[in-house]
Amino acid sequence: MQVSAIKFPYTTSVVNKSQFDAHITLYEGYVTMTNLTDKTLATQPELQTASPSGGHYRGWKKTETYAINGIILHEMYFQNLGNCKTAPGKNMQAIFDKYFGGFEKWKADFVACATSARGWCILVYEQRTGTCRNILLDLHDEGHIAGAFPIMVLDMYEHAYFMEYGTNKAAYINKFIDNYPWELAEQRADIVGAKFQHAL
Ligand SMILES: [Fe+2]
Repeated sequence: MQVSAIKFPYTTSVVNKSQFDAHITLYEGYVTMTNLTDKTLATQPELQTASPSGGHYRGWKKTETYAINGIILHEMYFQNLGNCKTAPGKNMQAIFDKYFGGFEKWKADFVACATSARGWCILVYEQRTGTCRNILLDLHDEGHIAGAFPIMVLDMYEHAYFMEYGTNKAAYINKFIDNYPWELAEQRADIVGAKFQHAL
């Protein structure tokens, strides 16, 4: 099945349009790669090359999850690039209070987590222990907790901010938080509650 890129209009004040447009081009590349991977594995899997050391089959299987995660995470990221000065809603305030000891403590940890990340910083709901955590990924497919649901997704690859912010990573992280579209986080938290049937 072919997948298509979502068209994201430029509405955010977190990054400028040049930075945004360049990033969209990279996102579209993951869509193209996913379609190529699916076609290759369907028509030329070359199963006889299967090996943990490398080779055709392993290479495409590694590309499969890398590219799909690249799509999913970038779409959640572009959706939560905001331009508003609102406050966290009921769900999110409950998450910050229950799992982090309040918004400011969550924010301090999220900033530290993002600063430490080479790829992504994500606030997730993790179903095994029933907690929300800030986690970091160094690659699209490295650092996930199996089955954890993303609520807030921040791209910390340098390609996400370096054109505009250079080495001022802190400014980018704080701009992301300060402009966060909290109503979207409320919706994602609602999904978590329905999906896992846990009270957040
Ligand atoms: Fe990215």
